[in-house]
Amino acid sequence: MKSNTKQFPKNKIAWLWENMEGKRALYFVGILGTVLYNILQLTIPYFSGKIVDLFLTGENAATNLQVHRDLLYRLLFAMVGFTFLRVIVVYGSCMIYETVSQSVLYRVRNYLYDKLQRQDMTFYSTYRTGDLMTRQTGDLDAVRHMVAWVVRMVVESFSLFAAAAVFFLYTNWKLALCVLVISPFVFWIIYLFRNRVAPMHAALREKLAQMNTCAQENISGNRVVKAFAREDYEIEKFDRANTDYAETNKATGMVWLKFFPIVESIANLMPVVLLAVGGVFMIRGQLTMGDYVAFSGLIWAIANPMRQMGNIMNEFQRFSAASKKVMELYYSEPKIRDEENAVSHPERFEGKIEFDNVSFQYEDGDLPVLHNISFTAHPNETVAIMGETGCGKTSLINLIPRFYEPTEGQIRIDGIPVEQLKLYDLRKQIGLATQDVLLYSDTIEGNIAYGDDSIKMNEVVKFARYSAAADFISKMPEGYDTLVGERGVGLSGGQKQRISLARALAIRPSVLILDDTTSAVDMETESYIQRQLENINHACTTFIIAYRISSIKDADKILVLDQGRIIEQGTHEELVAKNGYYATVYYHQYPMAAKMREQGVK
Ligand code: GTP
Ligand code: MG
Repeated sequence: MKSNTKQFPKNKIAWLWENMEGKRALYFVGILGTVLYNILQLTIPYFSGKIVDLFLTGENAATNLQVHRDLLYRLLFAMVGFTFLRVIVVYGSCMIYETVSQSVLYRVRNYLYDKLQRQDMTFYSTYRTGDLMTRQTGDLDAVRHMVAWVVRMVVESFSLFAAAAVFFLYTNWKLALCVLVISPFVFWIIYLFRNRVAPMHAALREKLAQMNTCAQENISGNRVVKAFAREDYEIEKFDRANTDYAETNKATGMVWLKFFPIVESIANLMPVVLLAVGGVFMIRGQLTMGDYVAFSGLIWAIANPMRQMGNIMNEFQRFSAASKKVMELYYSEPKIRDEENAVSHPERFEGKIEFDNVSFQYEDGDLPVLHNISFTAHPNETVAIMGETGCGKTSLINLIPRFYEPTEGQIRIDGIPVEQLKLYDLRKQIGLATQDVLLYSDTIEGNIAYGDDSIKMNEVVKFARYSAAADFISKMPEGYDTLVGERGVGLSGGQKQRISLARALAIRPSVLILDDTTSAVDMETESYIQRQLENINHACTTFIIAYRISSIKDADKILVLDQGRIIEQGTHEELVAKNGYYATVYYHQYPMAAKMREQGVK
């Protein structure tokens, strides 16, 4: 993942351009509109200058006023007309910028969401949710702002400056040069400013992500906060993150304040130079009064772009820091994906699963968690996995749907190595009830039918019955239409487990994996579920992870794991006879059996 953070296939501007597909011509029209708008800005000072020269201060001013009054009206009318035209152009181009920026936002947002959906488990353990959310919201907004505002301001500033400079040079190049010679200093100052402010924007963006992560973790963990009465601590923690963000924001703003007086002084120097040098030129007769009026009416068109530079650079740096984060996601590729010639397998699997000398280590872990695991589960068999907490049970079953890839060895389904199968086909055939139950904020029916929304209501009820959930669901006021809160709030632990089991069953999987699925269910309900599972009417190889002997004793094969190694395997009887770890647990959970053994009763 980390390698993706450095080099992207495209630079940020090329990347933006790519995402303007379909709207590029429109955007270009918007840019032309901005240029036109700024050229039109020159018309007012130009016509004002003309009016002054022709009708106020020129040699024939009085005659012109009497004889050519129609020309005066035409000039005034042209000024009003151009003003209207300018308003229309600026309105149109603003609409275009907004349309294109929203289209880029929409496109990238969807693309990122698609990318997120396809990421693997390692990705999700690397990135924090708050950080990912920031990329989808704040960072994307900075990208939108670049298209809608920053580019517009750049075009506006440069076209205004260029148009005014050309007009100045054309009207009186000597005076123009005296005024313009000051401007390169501003560019130098902006360059210095950029170097100072760029790292601050990168830091600012990190602080924002930290603050969002803090809020997100706190909201989703609100029950733990309340249970431990840690509200004050959490408020303080958020306050620290908020202060940190606010301080960095302020510090970033302060950087411009250091450069601002210099830029402002330079910008203010321009009218002074114009006043002094222009005055001398006029006294010497090298400049007409009208030209002087046009010059002073336009001096802002040279000075304002200078003033805007700081703002533009600031926003550009914000875009730069944010786009880096967005592009990191945009160009990220999951390590676990379909191979080039992945095998399609839309039909059901027979269900033979082989682990062939499989070892595994988490990418971010220091030590292997599974060592040389070999076993075969035959079609329709039930394989139970037991072992102390942290011994690697979940890690082992996570390799079957390819959530992770083994570091050594191979896993085969019906003789096909899992990595050669299309991920979609592989996972579509695996029903998984995870250890950490996550239900969606949806109805109970919606949750059960999550993996296959084409199933009918009577089937939803059937699977709820298999998982011993039908009873408690029918007692709820709204039955299957009961809305469960985020993460299944409103249901007990055992109820959540049973809905998650029904959800796994409802896809009629060829391989069913139950990771600690009945741990929160009472023994009676558990044995009811087991009897139901035996009767499900589709062939299914089942993996059960459990610590209760009652859950696993009827399995065709029991694997006992210890620190990532299979230390015992066999049926219940075989393992009891072996008198090893399994037997110890068995006698511990069944004291009567232990007593009978002591008494020599078989
Ligand atoms: P219980 O569910 O508690 O019964 O344990 P388990 O047997 O399912 O253990 P699991 O397979 O979850 O973990 C095996 C080992 O891998 C433990 O030492 C964990 O600390 C470690 N582990 C689990 N998940 C991760 C992970 O995402 N990253 C890293 N680096 N280590 C992990
Ligand atoms: Mg586990």
